[in-house]
Amino acid sequence: MLDRFIHILKTGGVVAFPTETVYGLGADARNPDAVRRVFELKGRPADNPLIVHLNSARMAGNFAAEVTDDARALMRAFWPGPLTLILPKRPEVLDLVTGGLDTVALRWPAHPLAQQLISGAGPLVAPSANKSGRPSPTRPEHVREDFGGEFPVVEAGETRIGLESTVLDLSREPYAILRPGYIGKEQIEKALDKEIRLESSGEDSSAPARSPGTKYSHYAPKASVRWMEPGEKPADPRTDEDQPGGSTLYLLHAEEVPERQNVVSYSGDYDRMARELYDRFRQADHEGYDEVAVRPFPDAPRKSKPVAEALHNRISKAIG
Ligand code: TXA
Ligand code: MG
Repeated sequence: MLDRFIHILKTGGVVAFPTETVYGLGADARNPDAVRRVFELKGRPADNPLIVHLNSARMAGNFAAEVTDDARALMRAFWPGPLTLILPKRPEVLDLVTGGLDTVALRWPAHPLAQQLISGAGPLVAPSANKSGRPSPTRPEHVREDFGGEFPVVEAGETRIGLESTVLDLSREPYAILRPGYIGKEQIEKALDKEIRLESSGEDSSAPARSPGTKYSHYAPKASVRWMEPGEKPADPRTDEDQPGGSTLYLLHAEEVPERQNVVSYSGDYDRMARELYDRFRQADHEGYDEVAVRPFPDAPRKSKPVAEALHNRISKAIG
C-alpha cells in the first residue's frame, strides 16, 4: 500500500504522512534536492532546521556525533514516541537539514505507517505538513487545504496527540525543553534523574533562540486568537447584539455554559483539546469567525500538566 509513496521518496519527491503528533512533510534526509523542496513547499525560512525521523534508536548514530548515556536513557524511555532529541551532529549531516547549526534533531515516531515509510525509504526529514505560519495538520484534509487536492498524502485519519513533539536540547547543559509537548518536564527529569529547564517560549528576545523555530509566528489561523478576560462570558450571537467586531468561537476547558455552535467545552479533557486545537483553528476560518477566544487554564490537574503546558504554549504562539 505504501509502495507508491516509498517510490516518490526514493526519487527525491515529497510525501505527507501521519505521525502520532501531526502530519509530517517527508523527504529523504540525505538528498539535498529533496530537502530543498520541503523548504520551498512550506515557504519555510532556511535557518529553521528540520527533524530527522528514524525507525530505530540505532539509526541515531548515523546522524548524531555521539549518542550519550542520557540520550540513550531517553530513547529507551520514550522512543518510539513524541520526543525529539537535539544532539551534536555528524559532519556529513546536510547543512540544509540543520539550518547550518552544529546540532541535529532526531525522533522515532510511534505511528506504524510512519515507521513503514521510513523502513522503506530511509530516514526522512519531516516538518509539520502545513504552509509556514499555518496551524499544523492533524487530518489529511488539512494537508490538502495547504498543498492542494493532488498532493500525495498517506492517509490515516486524525492524529492521536494533535500537538507537535516535545523538543529537548541535549547538546549542552543544562538540558532544555525548547518546545513543550505531550512528554513533560517531570517525566524527562525522572528518566534522567536530573533537572532540566523549560525555555520560556521565545518571549525573552534578549536571549539568542536555542530553537530557531520558536522565534517565528506559528500555528495561527486567519482569525485572531486571544485569551478570555477574567469574568468574561461567552457571547451568544443569537441574543447578544453588542458583539464587538463580529463573531467569536469560544474554547472552554470546563463546562461553563451549554455547548452551542460557537462554544466548545472540553470538560477537563485536555487530551481532546490538544487533539482538536488546530482543527478548531481551521474551522474558525472556514466558518468565518473573526476570533477564537480561549479560557485560560492555569489550574490544570497534575496528570494533565504536560499537555496543558503544550496547549498553553501553542495558543500563546497563535496569539503572537
Ligand atoms: O511532532 C513533530 O515534531 C512533527 C512531526 C511531523 O514529527 N514535526 C515538527 O517539525 O513539528 P517542525 O519542523 O514543524 O518543527 C521542528 C522544530 C522547530 O521548532 C525547529 O526550529 C526545531 O524543531 N529544531 C529542529 N532542529 C533543531 C536544532 N538542531 N536545534 C534546535 N531546534 C531545532
Ligand atoms: Mg511546524
